[in-house]
Amino acid sequence: MAKFTVVDHPLIQHKLTIIRNKNTSTKVFREVTEEIAMLMAYEITRDLPLEDVEIETPLIKTTQKQIAGKKLAIVPILRAGLGMVDGINRLIPAARIGHIGLYREHETLRIVEYFAKLPQDIDERRVFVVDPMLATGGSSVAALTLLTEKYGVDPHQITFVCLVAAPEGVKVVQEAFPMVDIYTAALDEKLDENSYILPGLGDAGDRIFGTK
Ligand code: PRP
Ligand code: URA
Repeated sequence: MAKFTVVDHPLIQHKLTIIRNKNTSTKVFREVTEEIAMLMAYEITRDLPLEDVEIETPLIKTTQKQIAGKKLAIVPILRAGLGMVDGINRLIPAARIGHIGLYREHETLRIVEYFAKLPQDIDERRVFVVDPMLATGGSSVAALTLLTEKYGVDPHQITFVCLVAAPEGVKVVQEAFPMVDIYTAALDEKLDENSYILPGLGDAGDRIFGTK
């Protein structure tokens, strides 16, 4: 089984409380979501391989480290995943960015795929799939299925990154994709009768973009 990690750094917990609060404005919600994503980028890249590189400091020649291995891609699940891209991209600026458009129908929870545009060599990259919410797991499993089955991405090369996860959804993703690492800023209690996460933060897409 791959890694399941709750990144519960005090700064992340503090900022998560801000975006959970229903009185937080759209502007602040968007800014703080980006900040949390940037802080998580530090943790999700912890196992990136390094290689030696020869450089010269102003004083001497020396062998130092640089990131090696596969090129990186960030793939947000639209819409809400967009809110995490800039924060992560700031720490790994050379990463390519792909997009997968999915939404779950409010009544049926059926996943509707409406867009996919990915780097041509996505199957050669280490891929960070980002979406603030992992609720039933329907959207994440649909995105992971698309990446692995249609675009040939090796599931061992995928990391799923969210802000708030429900235990139900984590189980669904782990059963469908046991080799995908999952990072979340919080593991919440449960889903409500409409499959919203409790305590959660509401509808992430609506709160990031100020829609209803
Ligand atoms: C939200 C969220 C996830 C999904 C999680 O998206 O951003 O993609 O729900 O729920 P699930 O785990 O039960 O599938 P939503 O469908 O509301 O679309 P949006 O981002 O366009 O608002
Ligand atoms: N999608 C959201 O945006 N929020 C939830 O709580 C569940 C799914």
